[in-house]
Amino acid sequence: MKILIVGSGGREHALTWALKRDPSVKEVYAAPGNPGIAEIATCVPIGPNNIDELSSFASKRKIDLTIVGPEASLGAGIVDAFRRQKLAIFGPDKQAARIETSKSFAKELCSRYGLPTPRWETFTERNKAVGALDEMGPPWVIKADGLASGKGTTVTGSRLEAEAAIQRELGREPKRIVLEEFIDGWEASFTATVSANRVQWLAPVFQDYKPAFDGDSGPNTGGMGVYTPVSTISPSLVEKVRNRILDPATRALAKEGAPFQGVLYLNVIVRHGTEEPYILEFNARFGDPEAQGIMPLVKQGLFAHLSAVAANSEDPPLPESSQSASLVVVLAAKGYPEHPSTGETITLRPFAKSNIVVFHAGTARSSDGQLVTSGGRVLNVAATGQNVESARNDAYSVIGKSIIFSGMQYRSDIGSGGIRRRQLEPMKT
Ligand code: GLY
Repeated sequence: MKILIVGSGGREHALTWALKRDPSVKEVYAAPGNPGIAEIATCVPIGPNNIDELSSFASKRKIDLTIVGPEASLGAGIVDAFRRQKLAIFGPDKQAARIETSKSFAKELCSRYGLPTPRWETFTERNKAVGALDEMGPPWVIKADGLASGKGTTVTGSRLEAEAAIQRELGREPKRIVLEEFIDGWEASFTATVSANRVQWLAPVFQDYKPAFDGDSGPNTGGMGVYTPVSTISPSLVEKVRNRILDPATRALAKEGAPFQGVLYLNVIVRHGTEEPYILEFNARFGDPEAQGIMPLVKQGLFAHLSAVAANSEDPPLPESSQSASLVVVLAAKGYPEHPSTGETITLRPFAKSNIVVFHAGTARSSDGQLVTSGGRVLNVAATGQNVESARNDAYSVIGKSIIFSGMQYRSDIGSGGIRRRQLEPMKT
């Protein structure tokens, strides 16, 4: 089988790596890919939103399945265009992807179908939004309505900071924000595949770390690390999330004329002292860095599953996953998330342990072939192990020894235990 992966981050490297291990996959192409992907697959210089070129490449090369990584490509209608040309593609169409690309669409769906989510209201006018702060908070949760690379949410106890966030988010498209009730609790990331309007496969549940620095301090990022298993995730909670959120959301999308096919990612918050999950957000694709944690656990059957989901099969074969722990540490560039520096030389020495994999994200080759930093999140160190502690020890054992670049910043507390309470962002000065 020939696969085309769309995207260039750690998630796409992890998908490429996992599919290359699948015996039914012969060739993998990535558009545009990254230097890590280039070591195991063929990168083609086509941007992830260049839908015409992507579909013409898939058609000419007789690609059996295209898998879409980034939400922006879904929002740009890549799936709709491929399906019109009868090209097999994994991901939701533009209508269904609104569950991620429009926070207000997702919230309205929750309200209409009684899905548990914090109270919310949308605003397009600054004065009305600022006025609503008195009714809502503190602390306040301000969300950009459109795509914001995981950085569109501000959680703050500072009125000044809340007003600044309203101003900032209303300044960018679609010039609409959501104010949301703050729930004091802990978060978890669920990843489900959906086909024939049903949840088919529930991947391991991860805890992710959004704030940039240790102890959940600093600004929100796209994600600084993840681990599984999470001790607070009980089978009954997973059951509740499936019965009260994932299954009804899937049915609701179908009823709204936007049937979902692909990966539905769910970030829930569980109120402290309860086992009550609330929807914080849906994404219409694999999480990043959750995918980098999931893929090393998949033992077999990934291609068969993804292609059956892409065909909207009623009964797709399920991938077989290992029960091991998995942990990912994101290595970011100096200045991330605000002003990441680029062009720093990366040293990446081989290491002996086969349970550790390094997935590239913001890396590039300089004109002399040197590996350099080229984005905020640069590399992902993923390790599996018998338990979180051993995966954690292994992941951290190579950072700074086998993997080095100037200004490298990472959290040293991924998977270090304890329940992570949702934090307020510090005031920006
Ligand atoms: N890890 C969160 C996201 O992919 O947006």
